[in-house]
Amino acid sequence: MSFYCNKFIKQLNLNEVIKNVCCIGAGYVGGPTMSVFSDKCKDIVFNVVDVNEERIEAWNSDDLDKLPIYEPGLDEIVERCRGNNLFFSCEVKKCIAEADMIFISVNTPTKTKGIGAGKASDLKWVESCARQISKYATLHTIVVEKSTLPVRTGEVIKEILDSSKPLENKNSTFDILSNPEFLAEGTAINDLLNPDRVLIGGENQDAINELHSIYKNWIPEEKIIHTNLWSSELSKLTANAFLAQRVSSINSIGALCEATGADIREVSRAIGKDSRIGAKFINCGPGFGGSCFKKDILNLVYLANYFGLPEVGDFWESVVLLNSWNQNRMSRIILQKLFGTLTGKKIAILGFAFKANTNDTRESPAIQICKSLLEEGANLKIHDPKVSKKQISNDLSIPPEDECIKNPEFNKLYSDKKWNKYSLTEDFFNDVDAIVILTEWVIYSKLDWKVISNKLRSPAWVFDTRLIVNEQEVLESGLNLWRVGDGTLN
Ligand code: UDX
Ligand code: UDX
Repeated sequence: MSFYCNKFIKQLNLNEVIKNVCCIGAGYVGGPTMSVFSDKCKDIVFNVVDVNEERIEAWNSDDLDKLPIYEPGLDEIVERCRGNNLFFSCEVKKCIAEADMIFISVNTPTKTKGIGAGKASDLKWVESCARQISKYATLHTIVVEKSTLPVRTGEVIKEILDSSKPLENKNSTFDILSNPEFLAEGTAINDLLNPDRVLIGGENQDAINELHSIYKNWIPEEKIIHTNLWSSELSKLTANAFLAQRVSSINSIGALCEATGADIREVSRAIGKDSRIGAKFINCGPGFGGSCFKKDILNLVYLANYFGLPEVGDFWESVVLLNSWNQNRMSRIILQKLFGTLTGKKIAILGFAFKANTNDTRESPAIQICKSLLEEGANLKIHDPKVSKKQISNDLSIPPEDECIKNPEFNKLYSDKKWNKYSLTEDFFNDVDAIVILTEWVIYSKLDWKVISNKLRSPAWVFDTRLIVNEQEVLESGLNLWRVGDGTLN
C-alpha cells in the first residue's frame, strides 16, 4: 500500500529527493554504513543517533583511535565526513522529525525469556524505535529495516507506525522497506563500497526507487535487487544460515580429519576447486562467532517450528549445535594434551575477537574456550590487538587478576580463576605451558618461534585453531604443535 502526501508528491522526481537521513543505532552496522553513505552522497545529511551517550561521545572523539568500533578504513571516512554531512548525536526526536528516510539499525538479540526464549528475536528495541518514529516523524517518511529481523516484522512496524501517531502528526505517512546489511566485520568498508548485491524489499515501488537512487551513486544498477518485503527479510536470514552452515560443515570434517590422518587444508583446497562449491567459507576453525550467525539461525529455527515445519527447524538447529560442540572440543583437546590437568598452568591466549580486524567479541569462540580453561584452573595471559581489557572482563564475567588483588571480596571469589591482559612483548611468554591461537590476526602468523620457545616451560604446546602458524618453524623450535583439522600431526 502506498501513502502519498504533498512532500512525497513534490519529490516524486527521484534522485534528488532524499535530503535528510536518520539512522537509529550507532553500532557495528549503523556507524560504518552511514559513514560510507555520507562519503558517497554529499548532498544528503546523515544523522546517526543512539541512546548510548558514551558511544556517541566516542564517535565524536577528536582522537580517531577512540572511535567505538575498529574497522579498517573507517577512521579516514569519519574524519572526512563528520561535521560536514555526517553527524552523531543523541538527539533522537529532532533527527527523526527532520528525516525523509529513517534506517532502523538497533540490536535484535535472541529472547532470553518468554515464548520463543533462546531462539526468537527480541524485538523490543525495534518496537521502541517504531513508536518513537511514529511519535516524532512529520509528513512522509520512508522507514528502512537495516537490522536483521524475523520475516514479516515489516508488517508489525507498519502497524505500530500507523497506530501510534499523536494527534499533531496524524497526517504523517510511512512506507516500509527492508534493506538488509551483508557487510562482514573486518571488511565492512570494502563490503559497503563493493557489495556483491544490494537488496531492497518493499511494497511501494516509489519508495524502493528512493533508496535505489541513494545506492546508485556508487553501485552498478545490476547489483541492486528489488524484491517484496518478506523475500528480502528471509534472504538475509538465509544468507547467514548458508554461510554458517558451510563453517559447521567444514569444522565437522576437520574433526574427522584429526581422527583419520587427513589434513583439512588439503580437503578444503580440493573441494573448493569445484566451482559448484567454491573456495570461500570453508576455513576450518574454532567455530563461528559474531553477532549474526547464531542469532539468525535460531531465528530461522523458531520461524520453521512456528510454521509447522519441525524437520526444517531441526536441520538448521544442527548447524548451531555442531558449532557449540566444536568450540567445546577445543578446550577438551587442550586439557587432554596438557596431561589432563590445567591447575596452576599458564596458558597464553592469542586473540579474543571473533575474527581478525575487528574489536567485536560477540559470540567469540574465545569466550567459551577461555571460560572452560579457567574452570579447569588455568592461569590465562590474554592478548588481543584491539579488544579492551574491560570487554574481556565483561565477556568472562570475571575481573582481571590486578583488580582481584586490590579487592578482598573478588580475591576470595575468583582466587582459582586468574587472567590478565598483556602486551605482546617477549616477557609475555615467560613460563607459559601452552599458547592457544584463537583469532587469525596477522601478527600471530609472524611470531618468532625460536625466541618464544626459550621462554616457555617444557614440554610446551602450541594450539593453532586458525591454521596460521608455520608448522616447520614451530616444530624445529622443539615445541609440540596441535592444529585444528590436521590429522597428520598425531
Ligand atoms: C544490529 C543487529 O544486531 C543486527 O541484527 C542488524 O543486522 C544490525 O544492527 P550492530 O550494529 O552490530 O547490529 O549492533 P550494535 O553494535 O549492538 O548496535 C546497536 C545500537 O543501537 C547500540 O549502540 C544501541 O545503543 C542502539 N540502540 C538500541 C538505540 O539507539 N536505541 C534503541 O532503542 C536500542
Ligand atoms: C556475517 C556475514 O558474513 C555478513 O554477510 C552478515 O552481514 C553478518 O554476519 P560477520 O559475522 O561479521 O559477517 O563475519 P564473517 O566473516 O561472516 O565470519 C563469521 C564467523 O565465521 C567468524 O567467527 C569467522 O572466523 C568464522 N569463519 C568464517 C570460519 O570459521 N571459517 C570461514 O571459512 C569463514
